[in-house]
Amino acid sequence: MLCKIFSTIILAAGKGRRMCSNIPKVLHRIGGKFVLQYVIDTAIRVGSKDIYVVYSDDYGKNILKDTLGAQNNFVDWVLQNPVCGTGHAVNQVLSFLSDDIDILILYGDVPFVSPYTLRKLFDAKPVGGVSLLTAFLRKNSGYGRIIRQNGKVSNIIEDSDLTEDQKDIHEVNTGVMVVTGRDLKRWVNCIKCVNANREFYLTDIIHMAWLEDCTVNTVFPKDNNEVSGVNNKLQLVELERIYQKKQAEFLLSNGVFLSDIYRFSLRGKLYHGDDVYIDVNVVIEGTVCLGNRVNIGIGCILKNSVVYDDVVIYPYSLIDGVKISSHSIVGPFARLRAGSELGSESVIGNFVELKNTRLGEKSKINHVSYMGDADIGNMVNIGAGVISCNYDGFDKHKTVIDDNAFVGADSQLVAPVTIGAGAKIGAGTTVTRDVLPDEMIISRVRQFPITSWKRILKKDNGD
Ligand code: UD1
Ligand code: MG
Repeated sequence: MLCKIFSTIILAAGKGRRMCSNIPKVLHRIGGKFVLQYVIDTAIRVGSKDIYVVYSDDYGKNILKDTLGAQNNFVDWVLQNPVCGTGHAVNQVLSFLSDDIDILILYGDVPFVSPYTLRKLFDAKPVGGVSLLTAFLRKNSGYGRIIRQNGKVSNIIEDSDLTEDQKDIHEVNTGVMVVTGRDLKRWVNCIKCVNANREFYLTDIIHMAWLEDCTVNTVFPKDNNEVSGVNNKLQLVELERIYQKKQAEFLLSNGVFLSDIYRFSLRGKLYHGDDVYIDVNVVIEGTVCLGNRVNIGIGCILKNSVVYDDVVIYPYSLIDGVKISSHSIVGPFARLRAGSELGSESVIGNFVELKNTRLGEKSKINHVSYMGDADIGNMVNIGAGVISCNYDGFDKHKTVIDDNAFVGADSQLVAPVTIGAGAKIGAGTTVTRDVLPDEMIISRVRQFPITSWKRILKKDNGD
C-alpha cells in the first residue's frame, strides 16, 4: 500500500489480433484467472484511489465489462471507440483525472508487475517529470526501445518504427509509468498519429517530456518476468509456465511434495496440511483443501473440494465439489461429482461415479458403478456394476441405502427406493420397491440348461 493518493489507468481495449482469437486478449487466463484481473488486483494492492479500465466493444457487445464488471464494481469502465492506439486510449480517461495527483498507467496485458516494483516506481517519480519502468531484455522483439541521449531518456521507438541500429537496443519499454495528471493531459492531447501502424502511441509523451526538459527517471523490475506481455498464445503459455513454476516452488517450500514442478497446475488456491504428496500432471482448480498426509496420484483433477487426513486418491480421478473424510481411498479412474461426501475409511474404486451422493463410514463401492442422488449409510457394500436409476426422464429421485446393507453386483436400484439396514440384494436384481431391514431379495431370472444344444467347432480352429 502506498501513502500517496493516486489514480490508475489500465489499458485493456486493444483487439489483440496477434492472439488469433475471438476472446478479448486480456480475458485469456493464467492459472485459471483472467489476465486483466491480475492487473486490477495489483492496482488495488498498491492502494489506488480510483481505477479506470479502458475497454472496447466487440461488435456491440461489451464482453470484457460484462465478464469482469460485477466482481470489480469499484472499477470505472471507460469505453474507447474506435480503438486506435494506447495514446488514444488514455485520452478517453483524461476528463476524469485530477491535475495534481499522480497517475499510474498499467497495461492490461502485462499481468505480473509486482507491488514492490510499483513502489520503487513511485519513489523515483521526479516532480514535473515521468517515472518509467524499463527492462533489459535479451529477447527485445515486439517491445518499444528506450532511446537515450547522454544517458537521459529522450524517446521510445516502437518495434515497427525502428532503424536497423535501434533494433540492437535491449532496454525496452514495459508500458508502466507514473506521471502527474496535469502533464499527462497536456502531452496526450498533443499525440499525433504518425507511425508505421497509424496509431496514437502513448509512448510519444516521453519525447514530449524530453523536449520540455522534464526528467524521465527509469526503474527496473525486481524480476524481468514481471514485465512480460501477453500478445500472442506463445507468450500466454510461457507466462502460464512461469506462474505455475512459481506456485510449485512456493508449495514445495511450504512442505507439499510435488514430484515434478514442471508438471503441476494450480488454477486457484490450495490450502494444505503436512506431508501432502502430489504426483505428476495433477491439476488443482478453484479452492481445494488437503489435510495431512493426503496422497494424490498421477493425472488427478481436484476442484473446489475438501480432503481430510490420510486420504489416498489413485491416478486419473476427477473430484469436483466433494468432501472426502479421513483414511478413505478413491480411484483409480473415479469420478466424484458435486455434492458428494465420503465418510471416513470409505472406498471408491475404479470407474465409479458418484453425483450428489453421501457414502457413510467404512462403506465401499469398489468397481464400475453409478450412484446419483443417493444417501448410503455406514458399512454398506455395493457390488460391481450397481447402478442407481435416479432419473425418470422428468425428475431426479433419491435412493436410500441404510447401514450394513449389501447390494449384489449388477443390480439396478430404481429410485425413489429405500433399502433397509442389513438388507441383502442378490446379484442381478432390479430393485423397484422398498426393501425392509434385514430382508433378502432377488429378482434374477432363473437359470436353465438348453439340453438340445451342441457346440459346433470351427474346422480350422487356429492350432
Ligand atoms: C506496448 C507499447 C510498447 C511496450 C509494450 C510492453 C505502445 C504504443 N507500445 O506495445 O512500447 O514495449 O506495450 O508490453 O504503447 N490498448 C488499448 N487501446 C488501444 C491499443 C491498446 O487499450 O487502442 C491496450 C491493449 O489492450 C494492451 C495495452 O494497451 O493491454 C498495450 O497494447 P498492445 O497492442 O499490446 O501494445 P504492444 O504492442 O504490446
Ligand atoms: Mg502488449
